[in-house]
Amino acid sequence: MPYNVALIGGDGIGPEVAQEALKVIDATGVKLDVTSFDLGADRFLRTGEVLPDKTLDELRGFDAILLGAVGPAIGSKDIPAGTLERGLLLKLRFSLDLYINHRPFITPKSPIPSKFGDVDFVVIRENTEGTYAGEGGFLRKGTDAEIATQGSVNTKFGVERCVRYAFELAAMRPRKHLTLVHKTNVLTFSGDLWQRTFDGVASDFPEVETSYNHVDAACIYMVESPQRYDVIVTDNLFGDILTDLAGAISGGIGHAASGNLNPARTGPSLFEPVHGAAHDIVGTGKANPSAAIRSGALMLEFLGEREAANKIYSILGESSFDQGLTTSQIGDLIAERVSNAD
Ligand code: IPM
Ligand code: MN
Repeated sequence: MPYNVALIGGDGIGPEVAQEALKVIDATGVKLDVTSFDLGADRFLRTGEVLPDKTLDELRGFDAILLGAVGPAIGSKDIPAGTLERGLLLKLRFSLDLYINHRPFITPKSPIPSKFGDVDFVVIRENTEGTYAGEGGFLRKGTDAEIATQGSVNTKFGVERCVRYAFELAAMRPRKHLTLVHKTNVLTFSGDLWQRTFDGVASDFPEVETSYNHVDAACIYMVESPQRYDVIVTDNLFGDILTDLAGAISGGIGHAASGNLNPARTGPSLFEPVHGAAHDIVGTGKANPSAAIRSGALMLEFLGEREAANKIYSILGESSFDQGLTTSQIGDLIAERVSNAD
């Protein structure tokens, strides 16, 4: 039985890299029945619609969603900031309860050794709460006395299910190490909830060694000694920022993949590269599809196709595929290697 996959190519280089991910999945022999959804900046500019409820309901029926990238070109005046981010991507994350953002970082082999050394760690980013929840608003907008607040929502339930997922993951990895990243010295309410929850769940996983880093210090460690990390768990905004940095030190953001997961499996999970729509390189063949391809492999793994996923992971680890090859040439090469892998 093929898996029913919804494809949201999205904007900019999104459709280009998503296509390569499908090409590589096809080479594994895993069959997908792909339905394309026209969502993103173009659709909004044409129709004024971002994600109609009817479309959201249709998406609920799929086994998984593969997304290229969404977002308007920087400076695009016709689309107010946040329209697509909040209206499409975050709406999907919240409505489908994709409460884990699972982001692996593995330095691919390269003829030029990375100045950060080789890393192999995973950031588990809480994906439905924090400052992303949209709590807040304006008072006296447009006046000199204007007030804007943007609160951070942290529920015991939301923090615990995220922390537990991270412990379960750490317990399955050889190093069995988990670092909580927060800012407990200043965010004494949310940080306290995170720390207490983390300590509470830790007692169920005596085999997992734990540490704690403040997020500012974690940025230094990420650059100076990222090998210390095995699994990191953190809140939504810290995770957003830290994973761009993690991408930059592990081969570049063109390699950073993510799974927006609903581990309770009450609906489809969504897989997408960490990078954005990169409108400036559309059509040039410069986009590295590695991140989208790894996201496709994460999708296969989550669907239970571990063997196919492992083939893709191992080929992605062999090379950074960024020396003079175009987007589709990289896809062809990886697909060919996947077909030849036994
Ligand atoms: C990411 C992106 C999104 C985020 C944006 C596009 C809403 O930066 O997936 O990391 O902030 O989560
Ligand atoms: Mn981001």
